[in-house]
Amino acid sequence: MQIRVDTRAIETVECDALVVVAFDKESPGGGLAWEVTRSADALAGGWIRQLYESAEFSGKAFETAILHRPQGLAAKRLLVIGAGKSDKFTMADLRRVSGAALRHLKPKSMPVIALALEASSEQVGAAVEGALLGDFEPDQYKTEKKETKPVETFIAVAPGGEATLEEVARRAEIIAGAQNYTRSLVSEPANRMTPGLLAERARALAAEEGLECEVLDQDRMRQLGMGALLGVAQGSAEPPVLIVMRYRPAEAPEPAAHLGLIGKGVTFDSGGISIKPAENMEKMKYDMAGAAAVLGAMRAIARLRPSIAVTALAPAVENMPSGRAQRPGDIVTTLSGKTVEVINTDAEGRLILADALTYARQLGCTHLVDAATLTGAIVVALGYVYVGVFASDDALRERVLEAARGAGDKLWPMPLDEDYKEQLKSAYADLPNTGGRWGGAVTAAMFLKEFADATPWAHLDIAGTAWLEDAKPYLAKGPSGVPVRTLLQLALRW
Ligand code: BES
Ligand code: MN
Ligand code: ZN
Repeated sequence: MQIRVDTRAIETVECDALVVVAFDKESPGGGLAWEVTRSADALAGGWIRQLYESAEFSGKAFETAILHRPQGLAAKRLLVIGAGKSDKFTMADLRRVSGAALRHLKPKSMPVIALALEASSEQVGAAVEGALLGDFEPDQYKTEKKETKPVETFIAVAPGGEATLEEVARRAEIIAGAQNYTRSLVSEPANRMTPGLLAERARALAAEEGLECEVLDQDRMRQLGMGALLGVAQGSAEPPVLIVMRYRPAEAPEPAAHLGLIGKGVTFDSGGISIKPAENMEKMKYDMAGAAAVLGAMRAIARLRPSIAVTALAPAVENMPSGRAQRPGDIVTTLSGKTVEVINTDAEGRLILADALTYARQLGCTHLVDAATLTGAIVVALGYVYVGVFASDDALRERVLEAARGAGDKLWPMPLDEDYKEQLKSAYADLPNTGGRWGGAVTAAMFLKEFADATPWAHLDIAGTAWLEDAKPYLAKGPSGVPVRTLLQLALRW
């Protein structure tokens, strides 16, 4: 989909549908809070006001009404879309409204769609991001051809806006493009998306974006002593990899920080010998969403060039049962030297992350942020809405939460506390890989903290948020691409 910015008056914009945003009629100042919507209403002979009066439209979020051949407009149709209360409206909401408008019109064969905005860079950015995210469809394996025409062009209409809005739109394309790139990786089934293929994709990405990429193979990891990562991988016929991708700024301010982004890349999580129940096991192809998110973030980082050094690490393995698989009771020696008793082979994410965190520290990262579909317990705690954030360092936690606010991602702080360590005792090794029944998301994070050691570290548990169980009006069902925008903002705002 092509993105354009048009700063001329809305009546001149030629398109299949011009979308205008209208608020809940109970909003302060009524539903037509935006000047641009009022002018569309005036040009169309007061059509929107009539809709409110007839109670056909009330302005609730994502409500729609369409007018064909509106007089006074070059557009073929005028779509009004509800945006909820005007005083509660944020750019995160605009991102959604834009996506919902696009998804509403998409099945109706409308090659050119325009959205009327106020002349603000924030609005243009959010609207372009929303449209591109809304357009993504994980349907690459559907062979039946669609009857409808795809949306070819999305025009952000910002009457009277400055030429700099063009730059804002390009940036939004990079941001949403990175998120959709991540979604495309996550949507691949595990028979295709093996650790090897993920490494290939990473190499191709690095070559395209001018980043450095190194892939550690099994032999190299054995030499280094990554016993925890290798233990998880040993049951699978697919060899494991550790992907390392580097971005370096042209000039870094002193003292130079070095951000390590670590993503869990379990291309399929069967549970291993502690095998998962059959129901919903097919979803465990998204257990590499953390790895996909750090690669997506690197794609945008390469293009937007923040002034901080960033190294992405993606340990990628397949967790399978077999005659060579790791057993409950096995004790592995991690890269850090600490030993771990594998109580449950299904708690594999923390094992591969343990070695990746240690390796990130060895590479000189001064701050660590990991993203992982780590625990079912975070889904119990926060459902499908919020990402759980655990951090060993208050300043880093604040930075991550601030980045999330800027990105429009929902992150909620979760506790870490030495008292939870009582649940992490093994009779035979330094640590067990599980912490018992209660507080599973916290004990998993406490386990990771042992390997981040004294380096400031934040952990994002995305098990509930990396995959949408149901389609939203503004997003397709499937991979969400969370938390790509947060990771990117973290680097950009450093
Ligand atoms: N990949 C799962 C976590 C998960 C659950 C992701 C649901 C997405 C949706 C992880 O490897 C896992 O199996 N965790 C176990 C840990 C337990 C054995 C201590 C869990 O959460 O049940
Ligand atoms: Mn598991
Ligand atoms: Zn897993």
